[in-house]
Amino acid sequence: MTIKIFDVETGKEKNKKIEEIEFKEKEEDLKEEHYMLKEILEQPETIKKAAEQNEQKLLETAMEILRAKNVIFTACGTARYAAIVGRYLFSRIAKKFSEVIMAHEFQYFIDSVDKDTLIIAVSQSGETADVLEGVKKAKENGAKIVAITNVENSSLARMSDFVFYLNCGPEIAVASTKAFTGQLVILYLLAFATINKIQACKIKLKNLAKKVEETIIKNEETLKKLAVKLKDRGDFYYIARGIDFAIASEGALKLKETSYIHAEGMPAGELKHGTLSLIEDGTPVVVICPKDYTYEETLNNAQETKVRGAFLIGVSDEENELFDSWLRIPETEEIFYPLLTVIPLQLLAYYISVARGNNPDKPRNLAKSVTVK
Ligand code: AGP
Repeated sequence: MTIKIFDVETGKEKNKKIEEIEFKEKEEDLKEEHYMLKEILEQPETIKKAAEQNEQKLLETAMEILRAKNVIFTACGTARYAAIVGRYLFSRIAKKFSEVIMAHEFQYFIDSVDKDTLIIAVSQSGETADVLEGVKKAKENGAKIVAITNVENSSLARMSDFVFYLNCGPEIAVASTKAFTGQLVILYLLAFATINKIQACKIKLKNLAKKVEETIIKNEETLKKLAVKLKDRGDFYYIARGIDFAIASEGALKLKETSYIHAEGMPAGELKHGTLSLIEDGTPVVVICPKDYTYEETLNNAQETKVRGAFLIGVSDEENELFDSWLRIPETEEIFYPLLTVIPLQLLAYYISVARGNNPDKPRNLAKSVTVK
């Protein structure tokens, strides 16, 4: 096939280099009922693939993170929730404060971006218009750019100083699942690179891949039944504290986009500042409470919804009498829980979507890559 590119103003042909990107998967390769399910099930492999990163590049980027006056993540949707996990990791492991700004709001902060700012742009497609626009402006102000993306030679990759690819193969379903996991893996590696512990991190991640597999197997049947039971509810709430707050938001987003059910994710401590008034008899509340430093406090907040009639779905490595349904995850180190807690929430959204007769791969009104502002 011949492709010619012309300048819209002069009408003259432009000499542009065309790069071909090989997509290894084709639609007929699908064995599962939907791509979303296929991509969820692939995640143990995603973790291993995403962990294959060049150590020198990780170390150089880690130096930039530590050196920068300001570290700002910019992203949208699921990628932004990955960035929020990254923000907690940078604080906890690298002792580095960072900010996460929604890409479409980023332009309003551009005045405080300068050559001492490091921008970390997270985007599965690498083509999200709002992300590209922010990165362009940040570059003009002299900032350095780190890209975390899945698509080789994407516009974002080409604009960035450091690029980390997820290596997880094309993500076809509109709802992002394996890309989120891949993004987390790179953020773990970067955080551990700041303390010179890349190898230790890789070993932990390998171990996590097995636990993700275990999480899928242990919850599938419970989730299928739960989906049928809850498919007609109108509102879901997802609560968590600390690093898992991002997972509460991500769980709610997955449900909204695939099931068209209203859902909100929030830090558990925020409930009593308004949302608690919406809880009534039977309202599903997903409480993400791994047995870590957040466990007791998160459960206290869950209890506040339970006494108002909430149907509590607990995501934890420990069962609790408060739970009406328990989605079990294996025990792990505190900071690694997001890689496990997100899995049953992706599956819950998937099964509810299917139970409602939707096509989870192609939600109405949404596109895989949002290339318009
Ligand atoms: C995720 O399930 C959504 N489809 C959406 O929020 C997506 O994450 C967002 O549009 C960002 O896309 P990107 O990662 O390609 O930039």
